[in-house]
Amino acid sequence: MLQALMNLLSLCLRPLGQNSGGGGSDRVDPVGNGGAGAGTLGREGREGLLWFRDLGKYGSGEFSMAVIQANQVLEDQSQIESGPYGTFVGVYDGHGGPEAARYVCDHLFRHFQAISDETQGIVTAETVERAFHLTEEGFTAHVSELWNTRPNMATVGSCCLVGVISQQTLFVANLGDSRVVLGKKVGNTGGTAAIQLSKEHNANVEEIRHELKELHPNDPQIVILKHGVWRVKGIIQVSRSIGDVYMKHAQYNREPINGKFRLPEPMHMPIMSANPSILCHPLHPNDSFLIFASDGLWEHLSNEKAVDIVQSHPHAGSAKRLVKAALQEAAKKREMRYSDLRKIDKKVRRHFHDDITVIVLFLNHDLISRGTVQDPPLSLRSALEH
Ligand SMILES: *[C@@H]1O[C@H](CO)[C@@H](O)[C@H](O)[C@H]1NC(C)=O
Repeated sequence: MLQALMNLLSLCLRPLGQNSGGGGSDRVDPVGNGGAGAGTLGREGREGLLWFRDLGKYGSGEFSMAVIQANQVLEDQSQIESGPYGTFVGVYDGHGGPEAARYVCDHLFRHFQAISDETQGIVTAETVERAFHLTEEGFTAHVSELWNTRPNMATVGSCCLVGVISQQTLFVANLGDSRVVLGKKVGNTGGTAAIQLSKEHNANVEEIRHELKELHPNDPQIVILKHGVWRVKGIIQVSRSIGDVYMKHAQYNREPINGKFRLPEPMHMPIMSANPSILCHPLHPNDSFLIFASDGLWEHLSNEKAVDIVQSHPHAGSAKRLVKAALQEAAKKREMRYSDLRKIDKKVRRHFHDDITVIVLFLNHDLISRGTVQDPPLSLRSALEH
């Protein structure tokens, strides 16, 4: 199934037609002004290290969002933007510090918007790809400026998962190991299949190790297994990201960065890359919802389990429900009670689970086929700063 979808990739290299969604009469009410009970359904709140927005409305339906912090400083960032170009969802999972993920959250969407303005609102795979490359260039320049004062910025990076819904098509662009899974109605029995739409760039995936070995045929140490975990050069699990410039440009792989990041031999070519895997998926009326999440969720929940949880409950609170299901699994693995896990403070929490971000987009095909324009535009970032 995934392969079939991948084959459609060539489709998205062509513009998707004119209609940049001028009609605009089908106004979607922002949360709070909308239908019955929106006040409670749209509840935004906080419970300790958890932030959530139970339900909101975006251009193509409803969404639910939740984030839980485990690190001393939250390394996940995320956003939903919905406007004339369609809908843009981003999940950015930082490592080595929060700076790269924050930079991506501040810049990637702006680049995307500027490029789609240039192309009269027509989105293609190239639009998304260029936005990624401009963000990488910008961050690299930022690291260069700070090299004398904050050299450790060279070792900060971020996974980057983006979904764009435009012209009845979903574009997925990914760097690293966050994941988006589609819940799709199949057969006559009321079942919902879980279809993973993103490709993960983690050395624990055999295909990625193979890809790295092919790119570096003369380096027998390109991937190393340490304590049961595969790492690129024995250092990092993901092979693609924004940032991590110490693994991309030789001039940053030297003192004064920490020895654990320095390569034993000179770097002749970039080891990590910022080229996203891109999928273009024409939306089908049976496509019910999309779950975007950082790897913190997927290390505890299978695609099928996550789809089943969303599918068998009301829309409101879906993202929070997924986060809690993952925490329950994390607690079970440690043979402790969920209620006890919840009492553990950030930083120590990181020994039990990672930062987790979840965004669920429910797909309303009446809105999608009408090309509804969200007015006023929605712009939401997860709000969890401690
Ligand atoms: C769409 O969903 C209906 C109802 O579940 C099912 O009968 C049909 O086979 C599905 N179509 C496709 C293409 O999956």
